Amino acid sequence: MLRLLIVAALASAAPVALAQQGDADSAHRNKIAMCIGCHGIPGYKTAFPVVYHVPMIAGQQPAYIVSALKAYKAGERSHPSMRGIAASLTDQDMADLAAYYGVPAK
Ligand code: HEC
Repeated sequence: MLRLLIVAALASAAPVALAQQGDADSAHRNKIAMCIGCHGIPGYKTAFPVVYHVPMIAGQQPAYIVSALKAYKAGERSHPSMRGIAASLTDQDMADLAAYYGVPAK
């Protein structure tokens, strides 16, 4: 048990070299506010279920979430509101958001 704790402590002290590692806590504190209005998570409540369909992003694989956000940013996906939002996100933001919303492949 102690050994596990030490490993965990070391891992969390690891330097920024792991930059693309998503940080769910950071996403939770700083970034999801701009997503919940539409994606309505946590709690799976969609804000505008009648107006338009907003896909569920919680529980997707993180890699899928990141690639979708990159595709919006690059203009490969064309939904106007998601393009605007993705354009404001850095790669680190995307990784953090994916870590928050996503569920790693099992
Ligand atoms: C203004 C409403 C709105 C906001 C705010 C919003 N989204 Fe979206 N999002 C949508 C809609 C609508 C779609 C579906 C677009 C389409 O059909 O391409 C979507 C699609 C997505 C997808 C692709 C899902 C899939 O199954 O392919 C991801 C990932 C995503 N959003 C993440 C986010 C994240 C992360 C945030 C916050 C940074 C966010 N969205 C904020 C409306 C929104």
